[in-house]
Amino acid sequence: MSPGGAAVLLSWLSWCGSAVWRYTTNSPDYRIFSSRSTIRLVYEGTSFSEWTVPENCYVHDKSSPVTDLRCSAPGVYTLKPIVTGPEEEEERYLLLVDSSVCFMWYYTVENYFDNLTQIVTVWVYDPENADPKEVQWIATEPSLNSKILTKQLAALGQKPRIYTLLGRESYFPESILQEGVWTIQLPMTKTDVIKELKGNQVAFEDCFVSPLPFLLSFPFSTVPETPGYLPITSPAGSPLMSVSSTCIPSFAVLVSDMETFQTNDSFHTWTRVRVDPKILSDSERHSVSSVTLAGQGIFFLINGAVYLMSVNQLKKLQGDHGIPDNGIVGIKSRRWCGINTFFKNQKNRSTMAAWTNSEVYLGYASLKFARITTSAELKSFLNLPPSDILTIENLEYTVHPLELTVLLYHVCAACVDKKVYILIYNEQSSQWVTQDFELEISLDTFLVSRSLFSAMPDLVLWDKHRVYYCYQNFTLTGTIQTSTGEENLSVLSSGSNIHDVYVDYYGNIIVKMENNVMFYFKINIRDAVKLHFWMSETTKSLFFFSDSYHAYLVYVFDNGTVQPQDYPLNLEVQSVTYKSQDKCPYMAFHNNVFRVIYFLDKGENLSIWSQIVYPENTGLHTIVETYGPKVLAIAQDSHYEIALGYCTKTLSVTFTQIAQYELKPDYFKQQQKDSGLLVVQLRPSEYSKTCPIAQKVFEIAVGCNSNKAIRVKGFSGTECKHRDFSYVIHRSYLRKEPLRNLKVRYDWGKYGCPLRVDFREKFQPVIQVSDENGVYGDVDVNFIVWEIHGRDDYTFNSTMKQSGCLNEAQTWKTMMEMNENLPLDMVWGPENYRPCFSYAIGKPGDLSQPYEILNISNKNHLVWPTDHVGMYVFRAKVLDPNFSFCNLTAIFAVETIGVIPKPNVYLVAAFLFILMLVFFTILVLSYFHYQRIYRQYIYEPLHKPQNKQKKN
Ligand SMILES: *[C@@H]1O[C@H](CO)[C@@H](O)[C@H](O)[C@H]1NC(C)=O
Ligand SMILES: *[C@@H]1O[C@H](CO)[C@@H](O)[C@H](O)[C@H]1NC(C)=O
Ligand SMILES: *[C@@H]1O[C@H](CO)[C@@H](O)[C@H](O)[C@H]1NC(C)=O
Ligand SMILES: *[C@@H]1O[C@H](CO)[C@@H](O)[C@H](O)[C@H]1NC(C)=O
Ligand SMILES: *[C@@H]1O[C@H](CO)[C@@H](O)[C@H](O)[C@H]1NC(C)=O
Repeated sequence: MSPGGAAVLLSWLSWCGSAVWRYTTNSPDYRIFSSRSTIRLVYEGTSFSEWTVPENCYVHDKSSPVTDLRCSAPGVYTLKPIVTGPEEEEERYLLLVDSSVCFMWYYTVENYFDNLTQIVTVWVYDPENADPKEVQWIATEPSLNSKILTKQLAALGQKPRIYTLLGRESYFPESILQEGVWTIQLPMTKTDVIKELKGNQVAFEDCFVSPLPFLLSFPFSTVPETPGYLPITSPAGSPLMSVSSTCIPSFAVLVSDMETFQTNDSFHTWTRVRVDPKILSDSERHSVSSVTLAGQGIFFLINGAVYLMSVNQLKKLQGDHGIPDNGIVGIKSRRWCGINTFFKNQKNRSTMAAWTNSEVYLGYASLKFARITTSAELKSFLNLPPSDILTIENLEYTVHPLELTVLLYHVCAACVDKKVYILIYNEQSSQWVTQDFELEISLDTFLVSRSLFSAMPDLVLWDKHRVYYCYQNFTLTGTIQTSTGEENLSVLSSGSNIHDVYVDYYGNIIVKMENNVMFYFKINIRDAVKLHFWMSETTKSLFFFSDSYHAYLVYVFDNGTVQPQDYPLNLEVQSVTYKSQDKCPYMAFHNNVFRVIYFLDKGENLSIWSQIVYPENTGLHTIVETYGPKVLAIAQDSHYEIALGYCTKTLSVTFTQIAQYELKPDYFKQQQKDSGLLVVQLRPSEYSKTCPIAQKVFEIAVGCNSNKAIRVKGFSGTECKHRDFSYVIHRSYLRKEPLRNLKVRYDWGKYGCPLRVDFREKFQPVIQVSDENGVYGDVDVNFIVWEIHGRDDYTFNSTMKQSGCLNEAQTWKTMMEMNENLPLDMVWGPENYRPCFSYAIGKPGDLSQPYEILNISNKNHLVWPTDHVGMYVFRAKVLDPNFSFCNLTAIFAVETIGVIPKPNVYLVAAFLFILMLVFFTILVLSYFHYQRIYRQYIYEPLHKPQNKQKKN
């Protein structure tokens, strides 16, 4: 993205390395390279005389080593500098297309950590009429030209949006255009990082805006440099080493023998990584032999021990992390970005691997390592005699998100050579698989492996001079040759050794020698071409992935600075293959696979198509290959059309599931057997180095999507005031009728807001399914509910007979009796569900019992008791065994409300009767009582004689 500056050039000119020439344009990544582009030619060397100027082209100053070229018509132009001296310079054939895409999007990002949003400011610029700041991608606001252009396009209806590839979200500008810019707000994310700026199909002066893929992640910061800290480096004279973050390639580390550099924006800006001199001795500080990046920070391998640089501290990992503190010979993290979690009950996936010559360790996000095997175990697995030596040489994660390959050397007592074995380990199943690969190399040769972006565990391996390939599940193996049949690449590069092999998501492979000679080939291709010289042989350089997954080079200068430079891989390949017969055999290869991973739950199928357009009579087709367990049936259907000498062949592929789970005795085992992860690729039956894309790779996960969940419609966790409280359930309302009442606490966090229901109203919960994109439908299969505290003072309004049962249906009571020792939430579920609609299953019985299975369509409702109100916390569970691989349950709470009805008439009458009875009794009694008193007072004087009597 930087134009060759004059200062850079002058310093290069002073070097006496071999001369090189190259070209740059104003558009980043050479994305726009058309007859409208200004091409800057740059010659580096001492014997320049002038540029050859092709017809139709205009060169600003043909005798200047740095000059601008414009060619007015599309076509292939032959360019080279004429030099004084015996050796001629290389010719390049530059293809200038006639393109109607001339404008580009420019964006800047501001991060707001308080609300975790990013505000992207977007405008349109014309690389041919841009400000130097825009060309160097350091502008903070649009130039005047860009402002005018943006406003013009906006007036014509242009409007950008940001689309995310993994999450499939679109974000639009919030406000209308102001100040010549749009602003788009996005949430910060660590996972959904691949974005694309797209616009409408709007042209201004017949020119469109090119869509811009870019990476935008949570802003990870680099390790800050502390004054007084010292450089950490590789041993003097060793070649550069680097590592990029697996899913965010703009975050990278580069280790040289002078300094370690780190960047979070593809080396536009960078910092030095330096360490506390107290932690490492001087010699240790200069002994970095490997580097890798994982979630926790930068891992360095120094003298057989692993050190972690996190925040600003270097820490040695040892025993308490489960990894030895000496003898480690390699560390590696994942190369290909994939989705982190797919299956709910999946084992923890490792983030990195470390190995000694005899043991393999996997490291996890918790910073704990576990030993997965030893060479002794592998020796017996391979049936090798115990006296032979088996060493672990290299390890590499493949595209399959749960697999890694291990490269082993086998040396027997009487051998002069060593044998190379490749094994594949699956983290989920802990199984090893031997690969059909045979190679014998001399004892002093050491191999490095690199996995390729393909469904199969394809690899390239290299030593100092040769590159070996393993394609198509190890059915095609051999040594890469050049067109002359030479396998030793050192012979073609003045004796230099292989430094590094760059591989990318498009199947490109670049072999870079230490002296910067480069060879190119592609996945499934067995011969390489030598690329043009691009940089002088003494420059220290290394390839990286850019934000848009293209190759760029990073140079490390002797003054301790680094500089990135875009590399036009496709143009360079076109140029070197221009004279050869190497033409891509097809015109177009499309498909409708836009996702990285597809989840298939039970009963779900996937249909895709792929189309290839090629000249008539060449007979190409699309090949579908899958890697992984055989859990899907694949049906293919192809048809073609011929028009104007071109054939368009369309292949439709349908992946279907075959398994049925109803009445299966071992439901969970069966599920386990039928789920798994497949990596699928679509590729043309023939292609060559010059084809832009080699294959399309994607994943299909059959199983429980860890984001899948159910909820009950109408319940929320937020629409009420949260306050925890306790309540008492009377013992008679409980299923097991204990001796005491049960006191329970209402946990708002877990149960959400209770729904208040009139106890006279029958209630049927409606279950909805959701995944990472939110709720997507109502569940229309059988489910059950139970009160989690054990209440059973509710019932159902349908009987088994009304529900259509032919035999007695399952009930909580029978299921609990059958599974006495299991907790309530395990006694009944899809694993033991038996339908009652067949005479063949179950026994006849009392069909007047309530039917306890609910379904959106069976009209069965919960019925509440009406003599008391209560709080019910239910759990719902999907019962249909053919519905999902997930154990789907949801919790919801119902509070029944209502006025307890007045005591009934008889009761009142009886009460009144008793009351009156008591009243009359009292009345009668008091009558007698008073009568006695009155008798005393009234009649006493009249009966005086009685006194006498008394006296008697
Ligand atoms: C370091 O050297 C490079 C190339 O020689 C040059 O472009 C750069 O400006 C130099 N940087 C410093 C800080 O001297
Ligand atoms: C986040 O904060 C910024 C700055 O305070 C503000 O402009 C933006 O609107 C906020 N975004 C959201 C989603 O609240
Ligand atoms: C790949 O090779 C392994 C081991 O040879 C074999 O088990 C597997 O079935 C092969 N897979 C495919 C898709 O060819
Ligand atoms: C149960 O109650 C619902 C709702 O009131 C009603 O539609 C349904 O017919 C009832 N079922 C039976 C079997 O009575
Ligand atoms: C579902 O539950 C069963 C039994 O508890 C368990 O074995 C299985 O792993 C669970 N499945 C998922 C996807 O969680």
